[in-house]
Amino acid sequence: MQNKKISVFDTTLRDGEQTPGVSLTSSQKLEIAHQLDKLGVDMIEAGFPISSEGDKESVKSISNAGLDSVVCGLARVLTKDIDACFESDVGLVHTFVPTSDVQRVYTIKKSREEVVELAVKAVEYIKDHGLKCMFSAMDATRTEPAYMLEVFKAVQDAGCDIINVPDTVGVMSPSAMCRMIKDVAKEIRIPIDVHCHNDFGLAVANSLMAVEAGASQVQVTINGIGERAGNADLSQTVMGLTAIYGAKTNIRTEYLVETSKMIENYTGVRLPPNTPVVGQNAFSHESGIHSHGVLEKSDTFEPGIMTPEMVGHRRRIVLGKHTGTHAVKTSLESAGIKANEKQLEEIVCKIKEIANKGKQITDADLFAVTSAVLGKASSEEELIKLKEVSVMTGNILTPTAVVKASIGGKEVIAANTGLGPVDAALKAVRDILGERNRFKLQEFRIDAISGGADALADVYIGLENEKGRIVTARAANPDIVMASVEALVNAMNLLYKDKT
Ligand code: KIV
Ligand code: ZN
Repeated sequence: MQNKKISVFDTTLRDGEQTPGVSLTSSQKLEIAHQLDKLGVDMIEAGFPISSEGDKESVKSISNAGLDSVVCGLARVLTKDIDACFESDVGLVHTFVPTSDVQRVYTIKKSREEVVELAVKAVEYIKDHGLKCMFSAMDATRTEPAYMLEVFKAVQDAGCDIINVPDTVGVMSPSAMCRMIKDVAKEIRIPIDVHCHNDFGLAVANSLMAVEAGASQVQVTINGIGERAGNADLSQTVMGLTAIYGAKTNIRTEYLVETSKMIENYTGVRLPPNTPVVGQNAFSHESGIHSHGVLEKSDTFEPGIMTPEMVGHRRRIVLGKHTGTHAVKTSLESAGIKANEKQLEEIVCKIKEIANKGKQITDADLFAVTSAVLGKASSEEELIKLKEVSVMTGNILTPTAVVKASIGGKEVIAANTGLGPVDAALKAVRDILGERNRFKLQEFRIDAISGGADALADVYIGLENEKGRIVTARAANPDIVMASVEALVNAMNLLYKDKT
């Protein structure tokens, strides 16, 4: 596996869009395709052109976007499906037919011989039109092995360029996958691709095992989205292949986090914080022992072969009930605040008290506690003091917000519009800073504390300044707009205090 070149086939825009509840607009799909191209995926499965005129148009616009990645369209083994791919100007047609008895009998209702015939005809039709062709034996892993090989050999003889082995319902174990791909590789000369679903959480492991056994291409999606429990996650598969196995891909891994965030935003499918590689906690440390170790040398409690920089992430020391003085001292020093041993111990003690009440500690909490311990009134130091916020919204007007604040003692008013009242208010808050507004919103989360329409909105914000320093702050208010505005102002005030 060392230095073996693996091709990455991304199906976020096809299988990924089949995630229940996910629907992307054509312009979002085009933007995602550009991002996948920037990420360096070898092939982009842009959609299933026969499924709708809209999908066909969307695939066509991606095909003609001048990307380096090869653009692929999906087609059943039917002439009309393949024609729709041709009309979408794709460079590769991915044609598929079910081969397992259960799918063959209950879905397409064809005999085994008819399936072979349809598959061969489809491949010949694609090749006669001068296009590259990939063939999938759908539900391959539940297909009788001898029959699966018969189908693959037939399409290979018909001129197919790549065969794909889909684990359609995610039932393989890594060792079974290894045996199956070895058997296929003994009989097949053309490149072998795998498409693993995640029904038992084994999609990435099965993809890695398939590569170890002879596959040279993996089908993946960003954030592992896809039918049911999804597909093999691109970031985990690529980092597994490269960092653990030493294989090579064309992926520019420094864009992994950025790409993951784009998909999270456009699909609305949020990642759990403990998601490997790109999740919020992938390089976060809270316990005193771990934080201390990582601050001395990051490899102590991180893989080392995968660093946050490699995947476009950041290392974070998170304060909580397991925090030690070392982490608090480092956080304060990075904001230019010095505290002696006794003060540090008191700050840590108070941080733990808050955390023990089940609250996530933000930088705003840390600095509020520190100000109290050091005997400084934190609000007096604040540059921005909010005076008034008013928002107009409704079904016939564009949400508009007006914010009045005093900045360093000078009164400033700003107004802006947005997609919703929160968006408008946050834009207006940023406008009050004029030239000084050089912050990037890294994280924005709204939670409802308690249920019901009168629930308290709890807003958590991560804000980054131009030096790359990120601070976190939160605010709770029964009014969702006020909670958002207060959290943003808290975060801005913290960044202005930054002395680094
Ligand atoms: O899961 C599957 O089998 C598929 C095929 C179309 C490859 O998505
Ligand atoms: Zn699939």
